Amino acid sequence: MIIQKSNGSPLPAENTPHQVFRMVAKTMFGLEELLADELRECGAKDIELLVRAVSFTGDMKVLYRANYTCRTALAILKPFAEFEAADDQELYDNVYRIKWEKILDVDATFMIDSTTSGDVFTHSYYAALKTKDAIVDRFRRMFNHRPSIDTENADFKLNLHIEGTHVTLLLNSSGESLHKRGYRQAVGVAPINEVLAAGMIKLSGWKCDCNFFDPMCGSGTLLIEAAMMANNIPAQYYRQERFAFKRWSDFNIAEWKNVKETEDRKIGSTDFDYEIWGNDIDLDVLRQAEMNLKYAKLHKDVLLYHGSFEDQDPPEGKTIIVTNPPYGERIKVSDLNDLYTRLGDTFKNRYGENCQVWLITSDFEAMKHIGLHPSKKIQLFNGSLDCRLLKFELYSGSKKNKVADQ
Ligand SMILES: C[S@@+](CC[C@H](N)C(=O)[O-])C[C@H]1O[C@@H](n2cnc3c(N)ncnc32)[C@H](O)[C@@H]1O
Repeated sequence: MIIQKSNGSPLPAENTPHQVFRMVAKTMFGLEELLADELRECGAKDIELLVRAVSFTGDMKVLYRANYTCRTALAILKPFAEFEAADDQELYDNVYRIKWEKILDVDATFMIDSTTSGDVFTHSYYAALKTKDAIVDRFRRMFNHRPSIDTENADFKLNLHIEGTHVTLLLNSSGESLHKRGYRQAVGVAPINEVLAAGMIKLSGWKCDCNFFDPMCGSGTLLIEAAMMANNIPAQYYRQERFAFKRWSDFNIAEWKNVKETEDRKIGSTDFDYEIWGNDIDLDVLRQAEMNLKYAKLHKDVLLYHGSFEDQDPPEGKTIIVTNPPYGERIKVSDLNDLYTRLGDTFKNRYGENCQVWLITSDFEAMKHIGLHPSKKIQLFNGSLDCRLLKFELYSGSKKNKVADQ
């Protein structure tokens, strides 16, 4: 990760187009290996798995492609300064020495995300404040004018990462989190994060080689992510090119256009010939799913059904079911247990061995009411909620009953 190790003046983040440098892609817990595979596809090298992140090397083209195509990335960060700081003053002094005027525009806005560990910098907010002070003091001294802070929608997002006395500063090349794909026109009560949805689909092993069904689809996130995969639509196709790297002084428009055009040419190039459909009991939320699908021009690729899952015809043909049932934050415990019992009964009694079910939940009590034994349990987090993605293989005949009775 080291770009320059110095107590002097760290270099700004300028790169010639084919210069190779280290980057860090952020993701969610449990999706690191999937992200590493996606980064490899983008041409990344020297890949190392971290917790909730992947480190790798590549040039600007890799950075642009990773931003545009990786479905399981939340942000692509570029480290640009690294130093030791034993206390607040040393942190301030080292940050002050950085040639910020070559990185940030004086008229732009910025924000700092910080994480600290160890017993030197115990408050990440305070460390971010010191860093911010050093940056604005340098601008004030040089220009009598300073960039402003914007915690919502900053032009430049910095990451401050401190482990013990080791400080790394990274520039966020994505800007707004990459889970904000741009296709959401409306959201249900508990929409799943788009990166988590894409990760769940990839973890299910769905390779666009059979049907895909979400029996409790809400505003349609899993369906849209699946349809984007089936049509080879880049993860950020609907984002309207809102990326922080476009404001960087070394932004290479020709290289970016080349990456975008190359990826866009692949759209629709698959021979996907299966069905993707969803179902929900709530008509309002289904209307939102429809609105999102229409915006993404995927409404002809995905069918929506209204009603309770147990009233729907069981899938025909090989089908992967990936779903995100209610977790119980807005629903009574007894109702939730009953819902999971009915869900399990529907899978057991009505669905055949052509179906494989993947279900995410944070409600470990309700989970037991499904009455099927999961053949796989993967830990994931939905925000701060500790969740399990459960895999259920369905069997016909005696095996089905035997497993169901466990
Ligand atoms: C956690 S939300 C799903 C959110 C969805 N993944 C999204 O991104 O918007 C759970 C959904 O289950 C639906 N639901 C609850 N009971 C149902 C039932 N019996 N049949 C079908 N859907 C049901 C709710 O209406 C809700 O939309």
